[in-house]
Amino acid sequence: MKSTTLLTTLSLASTALSTAIPLPIRTNTRPIRLLHKPPLSPPSQGARILSSQSEESTLGGAHLPSPPSGKVASVTATFTIPHASMPVTGPTANNTVGLYAASFHIGIDSFSGLCPNNRFIRAGVDIFWDGTIGGEQTPWVWYQSSPADEDGMGFGNFSAKAGDVVRFVVTGSEVKVENYGNVTCTKGLKARQVGVQRVDGGGLCGGEAAWAVEDFPLAGMPDFPVALADFGGVVFKNLEVGFGNGTVMRNAEGAGVRDVRLAAQGGRLTDCVVGEGGGSVRCDRVVGE
Ligand SMILES: *[C@@H]1O[C@H](CO)[C@@H](O)[C@H](O)[C@H]1NC(C)=O
Ligand SMILES: *[C@@H]1O[C@H](CO)[C@@H](O)[C@H](O)[C@H]1NC(C)=O
Ligand SMILES: *[C@@H]1O[C@H](CO)[C@@H](O)[C@H](O)[C@H]1NC(C)=O
Ligand SMILES: *[C@@H]1O[C@H](CO)[C@@H](O)[C@H](O)[C@H]1NC(C)=O
Repeated sequence: MKSTTLLTTLSLASTALSTAIPLPIRTNTRPIRLLHKPPLSPPSQGARILSSQSEESTLGGAHLPSPPSGKVASVTATFTIPHASMPVTGPTANNTVGLYAASFHIGIDSFSGLCPNNRFIRAGVDIFWDGTIGGEQTPWVWYQSSPADEDGMGFGNFSAKAGDVVRFVVTGSEVKVENYGNVTCTKGLKARQVGVQRVDGGGLCGGEAAWAVEDFPLAGMPDFPVALADFGGVVFKNLEVGFGNGTVMRNAEGAGVRDVRLAAQGGRLTDCVVGEGGGSVRCDRVVGE
């Protein structure tokens, strides 16, 4: 009786898999990695697609265009790494042998793909849930400074787990991540771990700051996004946008917002908002609302 139920669930899940979800990878014990595709230039006009809520998008979150008078020189945010779990609603639900993931990142020119040669710098965390190897997996903390580098790079032996509060700082010459551990507030605390890497910001436009949630494909399977994990919600806080003249703006007021929206996975998959006063960017995981 139990196994019949399981088979039904699995065959239903495989139907969805054929269109939406990569089959689980379990041929080796290497960590799971996502393919960090560069932001896509919208087909026609940049601004248009960002305001539309009906278009397919693997990318959600908020992006703050720089004012005509200035360029974005740095972007900062703090967030708690969400736990990944198996969704229980929508077309990707309850695939107990499935692989689910989600990515959270911040960056410069990393949202709209409007910078010539698609230059951008971003850094973030990927989370995973893989039913074939026990469920929730260790998050991967990464940075990426060139469209040619689709895998992203790690921060040496920096490590983090779900529930840890991490702070990212992205500039045109350096990316930095700090891990404060599982705490409710970072005020007055010293980071337990710090990772810093030099990056080459040549060719950046400084055209926008971004705080994003993304549904990337799996490394080696570039054609469709992996099933988006249930992550509850993520809140980017302590936002800072530094401009070329040294001014720092401590909110995302005026930012444009987009949701992850993929018909094959049930429609709208995030509910992203810029918090009151612009002080935070929040994205909740939803299904088809
Ligand atoms: C610096 O640049 C920003 C962005 O263009 C602008 O809003 C701000 O007023 C400038 N500050 C100064 C002191 O010029
Ligand atoms: C997934 O499983 C949960 C728990 O058994 C159940 O409540 C839910 O209805 C299932 N979802 C779907 C889409 O079958
Ligand atoms: C890795 O950790 C060791 C021991 O904590 C430290 O000495 C070393 O500098 C670290 N390496 C990197 C690349 O961060
Ligand atoms: C943080 O730690 C507490 C106590 O160990 C635990 O109950 C909680 O689930 C953790 N928070 C997260 C988000 O993992």
